[in-house]
Amino acid sequence: MSCCTLNFEPSIRMSPEQTMDSPLMPDSDSAHSSNATDENTNSLTASITDYPTYWGRRYHRYKEGNYLFPNDDDENTRLESQHQILKALQGRLFYAPLDPEYTYTVLDIGTGTGIWPIDLADSELLPKAQIFGTDLSPVQPLDVPANVHFEIQDCVDQDWVRDYGSVEYCHVRFLAGALVQYQDLIRSARRYLRPGSGWLECHELHPTPVSDDNTVFDDWALKKWDDDLHDAATQALDPPRPVRIASDVKKWMREAGYVDIHEHISKIPLGPWPKDKRLKWIGDMWLHNWLSGLQGFTLKLFGSDGLNWSREEIEVCLAGVRQAATAKGVHSYQRLYVVYGRRPSPQEESAMFRSPLDPH
Ligand SMILES: C[S@@+](CC[C@H](N)C(=O)[O-])C[C@H]1O[C@@H](n2cnc3c(N)ncnc32)[C@H](O)[C@@H]1O
Repeated sequence: MSCCTLNFEPSIRMSPEQTMDSPLMPDSDSAHSSNATDENTNSLTASITDYPTYWGRRYHRYKEGNYLFPNDDDENTRLESQHQILKALQGRLFYAPLDPEYTYTVLDIGTGTGIWPIDLADSELLPKAQIFGTDLSPVQPLDVPANVHFEIQDCVDQDWVRDYGSVEYCHVRFLAGALVQYQDLIRSARRYLRPGSGWLECHELHPTPVSDDNTVFDDWALKKWDDDLHDAATQALDPPRPVRIASDVKKWMREAGYVDIHEHISKIPLGPWPKDKRLKWIGDMWLHNWLSGLQGFTLKLFGSDGLNWSREEIEVCLAGVRQAATAKGVHSYQRLYVVYGRRPSPQEESAMFRSPLDPH
């Protein structure tokens, strides 16, 4: 089946089009203590829903083995909570300057539980939009707003089963570690975006924990885990699926010919250590969310697909990470990159590629 569509680093130099949250202030007394279908849908076949399991976790069947993180209830619950934390942090569902009057088609690639498309539809911010969420796993709910549609689709496939130039907005969140070449996704999206007014927006987390006050040390278990994850993803996996891609997205968008590119970097505290109440809550939730996902992030990469550790070795490592992550006095955070850019119009494109010797 080639395609199946079922409707169902602490110091960073900033450029002018780049923004980043200011330093986070620690609190002085902080202690870390049913599947979707609709009318013109093919039936869900065993080739898609007969999910394989590995060490007690459930994984996708369609294009089996290409995505190394689980699709089970635990992971889906984590994804839904993650969405709420991100919404609290960002205070919005998207950054691109979309025109509600002229946004008819929205794509959410790698939609997971579909919570972002559902929330967007409920918000009525884009009242004329039909919102399509695509994924390898049919784990989205059935009961969704009328303008939300889910499709089983591999974004690596060249054919996204829609017309070129027909999409006003393409949203991608947390596909780091899922793709061999994230650049290809950026290039593919460009073909489907409306020339002149179609936007691609990518939200990607740089998983490496950092601090502004040198409280994160290289031998801190969470930092070592992140280094092992990076090594597993880039050296042990065949093919590699890099996880530290967030800071490259802007460059890749520029190389793919997008214009009006903006990058915003947010700091997400790992733990309830910030002084600011809102960030303290976010940090607490984020740490819990991260720890609840830890096993799922790790099993395949540290296990048979990657570093080939035994189950026992992995669980011992994770116990150490959990303990370290809740230790007092470490003011760590991760960086969330939001990058959005516009597909240029044919006129803008010809101006971009016009040789300096061409007559004006
Ligand atoms: C970490 S989850 C993020 C889900 C969602 N974007 C969110 O932010 O809640 C990544 C999702 O991408 C999906 N995915 C991974 N590789 C994919 C691919 N090649 N094509 C489509 N979806 C993919 C996975 O099945 C998973 O649901």
